[in-house]
Amino acid sequence: MSPPTHGPVVTIGVHIADILARPIEYIPEGQDTVLVEQIRLTAAGSAAGTAVDLVKLGAQVSTYGAIGDDELGDFLLAVLGRHGVDVSGLARRPGEQTAASILPIRPDGGRPSFHVPGANLGVAFADVDAAAVERARAVHLGGMDVTFGLNDPDFFALLDRARAAGTVVTMDLLSNMPDLLVAAKAFLPHVDHVLPNLEQALAMTGAQDAEEAARRLLAEGPAGALITLGGDGSLVATADGVTRLPALPVPVADTTGCGDAYCAGFIVGILHGNDVVTAARWGTAAAAKVATGLGSDAGITDLDSTLALLEETAAQGRG
Ligand SMILES: Nc1ncnc2c1ncn2[C@@H]1O[C@H](COP(=O)(O)OP(=O)(O)OP(=O)(O)O)[C@@H](O)[C@H]1O
Ligand SMILES: [Mg+2]
Repeated sequence: MSPPTHGPVVTIGVHIADILARPIEYIPEGQDTVLVEQIRLTAAGSAAGTAVDLVKLGAQVSTYGAIGDDELGDFLLAVLGRHGVDVSGLARRPGEQTAASILPIRPDGGRPSFHVPGANLGVAFADVDAAAVERARAVHLGGMDVTFGLNDPDFFALLDRARAAGTVVTMDLLSNMPDLLVAAKAFLPHVDHVLPNLEQALAMTGAQDAEEAARRLLAEGPAGALITLGGDGSLVATADGVTRLPALPVPVADTTGCGDAYCAGFIVGILHGNDVVTAARWGTAAAAKVATGLGSDAGITDLDSTLALLEETAAQGRG
């Protein structure tokens, strides 16, 4: 099966330059140096990282948000462009810092981080190309808990117009900060599917467990609530019920960007005409691919090999 071109798909929200090193077991004392196997710089964040994965899975993608006019901004433009993401609509803010994270990846793939939010905090409705949103087959909102300016009735009206014309709107979150996550509930009536991780889902809803959180998210309007559970897979809830999908057994290098990849695989699955649970399996496979490499863009190459992983694990009775 060769990857068709779906799209256009629009990603809106958070763009981050990730600096990753692995394996890191500890921060050395004083000025000591520790040799590591690998250091990488990637285009990441809930909009940019998902955009890269979407392109790899065959979609035509343009992305909207804000970066600084610093060297990290140059880097994001160059790398996103090289991956094939249309960055012509990405705003550059003179004098601002481009968002960045430093991620010392533990030997088991764990990923503590140091983060500067930078220009992401100022993203606003004026940074979004309304015509592109209305033309899109899918719009992915990445990190609406930190792009406060998009919490705007004009943006919600645009999403509603696009959805009325058939655009599928998905939303992921970025932070683990309860106040920001609760504020992002304002987006829920305007999206078709919401894809938080467990910590975010619990903070948004005040629920005690994933299933209750999913029920509360659905009550706010979305048709699908997909809560990712790291190595424990995900919980997929719709009006038809709740399905738990295990993570796929892969050799894990680094789980950074697994949530972004899950979103990308899910969106492509939906655009291929699959139901929500099947699309979530595509998301699970895309996420497993990303877990095998260092960085949110590593390990995933194309749709064929992503679906092949799904088939292999299903054949082994482990998917
Ligand atoms: N160790 C792992 N092995 C295989 N798959 C994994 C592993 N960790 C995560 N995944 C897959 O990735 C999906 C998303 O992971 P997770 O819940 O960590 O997302 P996240 O916290 O949003 O990540 P990020 O925001 O960095 O992209 C999970 O539902 C699972 O399918
Ligand atoms: Mg995430």
